[in-house]
Formats: sequence, C-alpha cells, structure tokens
Amino acid sequence: MSGSKPAPTQVSRLLAQTLSGEISRREVMKRAAAMGLSAGLIGQMLATASRSVSAQDKPAGWSLTAPKNLRTDLKGAQIAVILGADGPVVPWEEAAVKLFSDTTGIQVKRTSGPESSTERLAQYQQLFGAQASDVDAMMIDVIWPGIIAQHAFDLGPAMKSIGASFFERIVDNNTVDGALVGIPWYTDAGVMYYRKDLLDKYGASEPPATWADLETLAKKIIDGERSSNPDFQGFVWQGAAYEGLTCDALEWQVSNGGGTIVDKDAKVTVNNPQAIAAFERAKGWVGGISPAGVTTYKEEDARGVWQAGNSAFMRNWPYAYANGQAADSKIKDKFDITLVPKGDGADATNADCLGGWQMMTSKYSKNTDAAAEFCKFLCSPEVQKSFAIEQSRLPTIPDIYDDKDVLAANPYYARLKPVFLGGAVARPSTVTKDLYNDVSTAYFTAVNKILTGQGDSASTVGSLQSDIEKILQDL
Ligand code: GLC
Repeated sequence: MSGSKPAPTQVSRLLAQTLSGEISRREVMKRAAAMGLSAGLIGQMLATASRSVSAQDKPAGWSLTAPKNLRTDLKGAQIAVILGADGPVVPWEEAAVKLFSDTTGIQVKRTSGPESSTERLAQYQQLFGAQASDVDAMMIDVIWPGIIAQHAFDLGPAMKSIGASFFERIVDNNTVDGALVGIPWYTDAGVMYYRKDLLDKYGASEPPATWADLETLAKKIIDGERSSNPDFQGFVWQGAAYEGLTCDALEWQVSNGGGTIVDKDAKVTVNNPQAIAAFERAKGWVGGISPAGVTTYKEEDARGVWQAGNSAFMRNWPYAYANGQAADSKIKDKFDITLVPKGDGADATNADCLGGWQMMTSKYSKNTDAAAEFCKFLCSPEVQKSFAIEQSRLPTIPDIYDDKDVLAANPYYARLKPVFLGGAVARPSTVTKDLYNDVSTAYFTAVNKILTGQGDSASTVGSLQSDIEKILQDL
C-alpha cells in the first residue's frame, strides 16, 4: 500500500475508532504507518479531532440539572413562553424547556422574541393591551418593571420558594408597589472585548484604558491589517436607533463625566460640554475606526464582524464570550474582556451599562401556577449555573460567581466581579418609571442623528434636553 494516499474516509474512520476507544493507540500507530501516515502527523490529527469531538460531544444543555423543589402536581398543564431571540441561545433554551417538561409534566411551547429590546417591548405591549392569555410567561428587560408592572402576576412567593439569595439591587429594581414583577434570570454589563493576539502583534502590553488610547491603537492595528484583510475594522459596537444605543451612549457620556441622562432627582443631564464631546468623539469613529454601517448595528451585527476575526475591539455584553470561545470560532483563545474605557477630564470614570433579564408571568395567563413554576425553574441556581457555563450569562445569585466550573468557563468573572456584583451604571428607569421608554427613545433617536450626521451635536443635544424635560412633566 505504501506510496498510494489513504482515502480520507479511511483516515477519519481510524480517528473515530481511536477516539471511541475501539482500538488502542498502539494499534492506531500501526495502522497509520500502514497507510503511509507519519507518527507525528497522526498525533496532530488525533489532538485536533479530540478537541472538536469534546466540544461537539457536549450537546446544548449538557450542564443542566433540574432543581429539586419543583412541583409535580401540575402535570398536563400547557404554557406558552417567549424567550431569547433566534440565534445561538436557542438550542440551550430548548434543552432547558425539555428538562422542565420531563421533570414537571408541564408542556411548554417556546417562541423567540425580537433581538431588539425596543421591538420586544412593543410586541409585549400589544399582547398586554389585548389582555391576551395566549402567552403565559416571558423574559423582560431590567428597565421595564415600571412600564409593565400592571400586567404582571406577583412572583414574590415563587422567588422565595427557590431558597437562594438574589442580588438585592435587582430584586429592588423588579419590585413595584410591593409586588415582584419578574424573578432575576441573568444580569448584564457592557464590556470591552479585545484581541490579545493583535495587541501583542502591535506592541500594546495592556488593553486601552481611555477612549483616546483605544482610538490610537485601533488606527495602528487597522493600518497593519487592512493590506491583507480589506474588511478589517478597529472597533464595532451598537449604533442603531434602539435601546442598545442608549446603553452604548450612556457609557460614553458617563465615562466622560457627562451625566446619566436623568439623575436620581429627575433632573435631565444631557446638555453639557462633556456629553457633547463624548457624542462628537463617537461620531468620529463612524467610517473611521468603525464601519460606516455601525449606525445600523445591533448586538449580533457587531458580534458577526468580531467573531469572523474582522475587528480589534468590540463593545458588547458577556454572552459573546461563550460564542467567541466555541470550537468553530475563528477567534477562540485569541481574545479577552475588560472594562469599557474612560473618557477625559476630571470626572472621567469607567462606565459599564447595567442590563439583564427577568422572568415574568403574565397576569392574563390562565395557568399562572404552571407559568410561575417555569420562571422559578429558569431562575434556579442549577439552571443559572448551566447558563453561565454554556452561554456566559451573568448569574443573579452572588454565590454562583465562586463556583469553580463557572469560573473555569468564564475566567474573567473573577476580574470583573466588582462590576458584575453592583458596579455597573443603571439607565434611569427607576426614576422615570413608566416614562422610561419615551425618554430612551428620544435619547437614542437624537444620538443616532448625531452619529449619522443628520444633526450637529450641540443643537441636537440642546433639543434633546428640552424634549426629555417635556416628557418628564407627566411624571
Ligand atoms: C442586553 C441587556 C438589556 C439591554 C439590551 C439593549 O440585552 O441585557 O438590558 O436593554 O441589551 O440592546
């Protein structure tokens, strides 16, 4: 046989037999030699195959375990739930739903919601407006309790029955007039992703601490990379006119000492030189270190560019970590996470926007008991741990941050713990109550105008200040 090349199927059968333990390593070397493969080559092929097999070997939901205290007396009940957007989270959610049904006998119909939080709220408001009983439970954004409290079934008792202590700050956020609008499912904080390999290549020993440093480094990396990769970008983020831009722009503003949109006394804080300078700076990125199309990007658009290996930096939420580390990711092991940079001037500070999702039961549901049980299941420590390990979602139970399996999957949790455990900057949803969405819509619309050159910063920010003041007259 020597001299003729082995057919690929012969080789892959050999690898599969070795990995499954069907034949010994010694035997594989013998057969490989007979096929004309060197010991070094077959060793390398085995190492690669065992890496991808171990990733593929683990089906979505492999780390899920059922909490012990679930009710089994609701067998046969049927509920419909709206969970994450179509995308990489769906297989894990489906596995979780199946485990819940297998454990409780409650049938669950899962559907995806829109990626944009702004569109999702509009969809829910239609359902609530019609007092629709066809959706029993749904995930809700951390900024909505004041907007949708009147449609929620009180989940206080369900949360208590989980028997774990949740972050007090989030529980307070989710409590309106004494009732719990949603059980905290996962929390979120805006973070900066950076390519370690490119920082090394271009002689940067640390990720950028300020926006000015990020700009300089991004330019340098673009200059070096574009000749071999014309699609290469410096920095991708969320610039579309939707809630995600409110998060990004709040970070620019706060990090530059420019106020928090509305302060805790309901005073509007956008029309000031530091906020204007922060928006001007971001406008300068568009079509420079960032693609011109960034003003239409949401989270998954940014992640698409980043995970294809086409950007040096990305602002996003922690969910992109697990995706970036997937077996088939181009950037696996080449990146890390740090704080969002500081601006300039005396009041400059790090600002990472607080996000996160809760599980709510609709008060129009005809199965509030079964729906509450589902919310309880998803927010249980067991399920949160799996969500952190497989999908890098930030737990809402502080103890889970010390779990060794969770830390092994997410080493950056240890470093960013102070931010994740309470240091993130909240959007002004508590103080603006049911008017938050109007305030945020005015804000992201104005910022998007500035970014796309449809309005100059100073006058757009001036009108924004008075628009928000008008909205808040109804507070
Ligand atoms: C993330 C956050 C959420 C925020 C949204 C904006 O999903 O968890 O709070 O509103 O992004 O796009």
